[in-house]
Amino acid sequence: MLTKAPRGTSDILSPNTAKWQYLESKARDICARFGYGEIRTPTFEHTELFLRGVGDTTDVVEKQMYTFTDKGDRSITLRPEGTASAARAFIEHNLGANPLPVKLFYTIPCFRYEKPQAGRLREFHQFGVEVFGSDKPSVDVEIISLAIMYLNELGLNDLTLNINSIGCPECRKKYNEKLIEYFKEHYDELCDTCKSRLERNPLRILDCKSPICGALAKNAPKLIDYICDECSEHFNSVKSGLDAIGISYTVDPDIVRGLDYYTKTVFEVSSNDIGSQSAVCGGGRYDGLISELGGNATPGIGFALGIERLIMVMENKGLSFGEVKAPQLFVATIGKKADIYAEKLVYELRKSGIVCEKDRMGRSLKAQMKYADKSGYLYTVVLGDDEIDKNEATLKNMSDGTTTDVTLDKIADYLR
Ligand code: HAM
Repeated sequence: MLTKAPRGTSDILSPNTAKWQYLESKARDICARFGYGEIRTPTFEHTELFLRGVGDTTDVVEKQMYTFTDKGDRSITLRPEGTASAARAFIEHNLGANPLPVKLFYTIPCFRYEKPQAGRLREFHQFGVEVFGSDKPSVDVEIISLAIMYLNELGLNDLTLNINSIGCPECRKKYNEKLIEYFKEHYDELCDTCKSRLERNPLRILDCKSPICGALAKNAPKLIDYICDECSEHFNSVKSGLDAIGISYTVDPDIVRGLDYYTKTVFEVSSNDIGSQSAVCGGGRYDGLISELGGNATPGIGFALGIERLIMVMENKGLSFGEVKAPQLFVATIGKKADIYAEKLVYELRKSGIVCEKDRMGRSLKAQMKYADKSGYLYTVVLGDDEIDKNEATLKNMSDGTTTDVTLDKIADYLR
């Protein structure tokens, strides 16, 4: 117990952390190009935020939240996602007073009490973006294009982009009636959670994970057949916007997304080669969220990409995570005098930007050379009394075995 990380969490160790750094730096780079500024919100929030924002009939809120009472008797929840927090911060800091739209991105850990399996964790990480202040379809197109460009630049070109429109609260009313009518005919087959959802929020039955509810959902009336003219026009503009920039998609009427705040456009990007947890990215518009949380009515849209799932897909495809720079120089030493000298030498070399190391284990010269080789150092230099007296030593290129004599205080120049 004590020496095992909690179920559904994992340590990320070097050199794997380099993959994370790569994905994060690529995210920063693309967000800069698209004009998104970083937002960092707390890891935990008042539970109420998620009840109101994400919705109290969703799986995330009903079954998956890490909620506890703190010492001040407040109900606190570790964030299960980033959108509600970004919306809360938008209201709290009156970000709507800025020129609109306000474009934000984040890379954050999220927490959901789910049954762990490959690609499904209890602590996982999201790269997400949110845009507040515009209801224009062109923002939907921009958001989707950002996700696709990010994935393409990582080398992922054969992903599936599914889009749908789940309309506005007005079209939802008409649809909900149809849905209730349909599920009432199958009431006895529904799971207990869905029975309780039927009158409160029938849409949530459509993303229930139970196989029987799932099979019933397949034949349920489709929201897209009930959306109003305005929502339909909005969706058509999103589709033609995607067509115009050459992003291919499939309209999938079964995508409703598992969170309550969505309106109009919803979308998911998936990869076939990570099995059941195939959604790498999910997002959509949430024009009612800010007002639901008590702010001035402000439209919004965003997505989040699961970093762990992204890494799985990239590893499965054998994609590169960028170049990992090999360490440059290992300074091997013989004797106490050389050991002391090497301390100063590596200190100075590091100051001038060279990645270098010396022995820290009291190894023999042979063992030091073996260590340098195993650790992938590009060069080694051996220092003994003679080398120090002459201020000269031999650099060995570890890949081809060639050697070069260098003055000790010129090593940095040589390596650069
Ligand atoms: P979501 O679909 O719940 O949406 O999560 C987004 C992505 O996070 C998923 O596509 C998946 O890659 C990853 N993910 C979710 N749950 C887990 C898990 N248990 N383990 C590993 N990865 C997971 C949202 O969270 C919305 N906030 C997205 C959004 C932003 N919509 C608008 N703006």
